[in-house]
Amino acid sequence: MLPALYGERIATEAFVEAPEAIARHVTLCAMEDMAYITPPQALGLLIEKTQEIGFSMASEPRTGALLRTLAASKPAGKFLELGTGTGLATAWLLDGMDADSQLISVDTDAAVQQVAQEFLAGDARLTLVTQDGAAFLRNRQPSTFDFVFADAMPGKYEALDDALSVVKRGGFYIVDDMLPQPNWPEGHAAKIPAFIADLKARGTFEICPLTWATGVIVAVKK
Ligand SMILES: C[S@@+](CC[C@H](N)C(=O)[O-])C[C@H]1O[C@@H](n2cnc3c(N)ncnc32)[C@H](O)[C@@H]1O
Repeated sequence: MLPALYGERIATEAFVEAPEAIARHVTLCAMEDMAYITPPQALGLLIEKTQEIGFSMASEPRTGALLRTLAASKPAGKFLELGTGTGLATAWLLDGMDADSQLISVDTDAAVQQVAQEFLAGDARLTLVTQDGAAFLRNRQPSTFDFVFADAMPGKYEALDDALSVVKRGGFYIVDDMLPQPNWPEGHAAKIPAFIADLKARGTFEICPLTWATGVIVAVKK
C-alpha cells in the first residue's frame, strides 16, 4: 500500500514498518506518560496522608509533573501557590525549583495545610501561610511572582485581577481543573468557559489550554 502511494524511492522495509512503530510509540506515550516521570520523594507519604484524612481536592501527578517542569525554567524564582491543600503540587513545585527559588503557599484550612507542614516545611525555600487567598493577594505588590499556581477560588474565580497583577512579565499563571470534575458543585461548570474567555480577552497573557491531567491552562504574562 505505502509503496504504491509513495513510489519505489521510499519503499524500504524500514519505511514500510515505520507507521506501526510510530503507532506503538504514540500509544506508549499516551498510555504511559507517567513512566517517564519520577515523582518527588515526599509524594508517596503525602498521598498516603491525603487519603487518610479524606482530602478529595488533591491535584493529580500529571499536573504536578507539568508544574515541576515549568518551575525549572525560573531559576531564583519567586513562586506562589494559592490553595496548598495537603501539599501535593507544593512538593512538585519544590522539586522543580532551584536552590535560590522561594515558594509561598497559601490556604485557609490549617488542618489540611498541616500535612504539607509535616512533610515539606523542613525545606527552607517554602513558606506556608494560613490566610484567605484574596486577602493575601491584596497585600502584594504588582509583578512580585515569576510563577503563580492558582488552585483555590481566590486567584481564579475571585480576585483574578489581583492574581494576574502579581505575575511578573514573562511569568507563569497556571490553573488546573478546567475539565469536568466529579466534585464540582452545581453551577461550577458554567464558570469555566467564562473564565477562559476572560483570560483570553484581557490580552495581557499568552494562553495555552491543555487537555492534560484535569485540564490545565498555562499562561505567560506579555
Ligand atoms: C484544589 S485544593 C488545592 C489542592 C492542592 N494545590 C494540591 O496540589 O493538591 C483547593 C484548596 O483551596 C483551599 N481554599 C479554599 N478557600 C480558600 C481561600 N479563600 N483562600 C485560600 N485557600 C482556600 C482549600 O482549603 C483547599 O485546600
